[in-house]
Amino acid sequence: MRMAPDRIAVPGPELERRARSAVAASTARVPARPDVFSAVAPGRCVLVGDHVDYAGGLVLCAAIDLHVAVALRQREDGVERGVVGDDHRGRADYVLAATQALRAAGVDVPPIEAATSASLPPGAGLASSAAVVCATVVALLRLRGGRMAASAVVDAAYEAEHNVLGVPCGRLDQHAVVESPERGALLFDAAADAVATVAWNLADVVLVVCDTAERHSVAGPEYARRRAETAAALELAGMETAQQPPPDARAVDAGAASGAGAVPWRRLRHVVGETRRAAAAADALRGGDARALGRLMSESHRSLRDDHEVSTPALDAVAAAAEAIPGCHGARMVGAGFGGSVLALTDAGAAGHCADAMRAAAGERGAAWILRPSPGLARTASDVIARG
Ligand code: GLA
Repeated sequence: MRMAPDRIAVPGPELERRARSAVAASTARVPARPDVFSAVAPGRCVLVGDHVDYAGGLVLCAAIDLHVAVALRQREDGVERGVVGDDHRGRADYVLAATQALRAAGVDVPPIEAATSASLPPGAGLASSAAVVCATVVALLRLRGGRMAASAVVDAAYEAEHNVLGVPCGRLDQHAVVESPERGALLFDAAADAVATVAWNLADVVLVVCDTAERHSVAGPEYARRRAETAAALELAGMETAQQPPPDARAVDAGAASGAGAVPWRRLRHVVGETRRAAAAADALRGGDARALGRLMSESHRSLRDDHEVSTPALDAVAAAAEAIPGCHGARMVGAGFGGSVLALTDAGAAGHCADAMRAAAGERGAAWILRPSPGLARTASDVIARG
């Protein structure tokens, strides 16, 4: 009989060491030790398109070069050891959820023990949960000698988070972590559940991410409330997805301006406007227009702040600090909000200044990184993930 998972077991030093060296190397594979299997998954940023994946909208996102590593091995005694990472106990639940989801998908996963390590901060709006789950899925496929299509990995990772753990997330993070291109962005159409690659036609322009250290949780009540309010708003307007034009755009603005009853119209204005901005942002990226992309990012921040009401004073301050630096094209909160991180688009020459200004605005516990778009798991783990 399989015993109940032990969520607070401390894995052996060998597993911890392997997870640490995997994330340090940022490579998909660490030289094999026959019984230990590891995988490294990237986080993601959203260039434009937050809080629209659950409304059938469009999202322009990219994987980033901050990672989570999982190292695991089979346990012969049948006791599932749900991992403690070297630095974050909460990852244990995500590792265990991934094993359950893979079993539900028909993969014969034995009891395991695992360790995690990460350069990607948890709870920072950078999809660390999806990265832990997806890295676990890849490490388990390596252990089993299995192979899955990228879309099946996305499905299993979503199943783990949404159904096993009951987090009311959309499917954005899983798509970004798995399917992001080598060096470019991903345009995710949440209505069709389909992705397309967008070339990164910006020379000497980089991303700066600042984690404010203010923590959020997609499992918390506010995210679920936004989902419910958005669903109600779409219904009120007789729309199925945020990609449809609202029947009466002026009525949306009028409704959003009225005191009582303004909430649904504001939520609707956010998801419809954000979806349009995401499409325009993809055009700007393709066309190599950093200014236009930056402007859309800043507009996105204002919409998330004013209409969707998911920003915080700390996020607003960090975004404003970035925008004040010459060479910064735009900045926005990223992910679910209510804390987490700010993303800025800046000329490479201004990136250091921008990162310093953002860190200073975030305060003592803030951290900033200069990042570039990175490949998703379907590229780095092609030994177990087939494209498509
Ligand atoms: C979290 C969720 C995603 C998405 C974003 C906001 O990351 O997991 O599904 O809704 O928030 O865009």
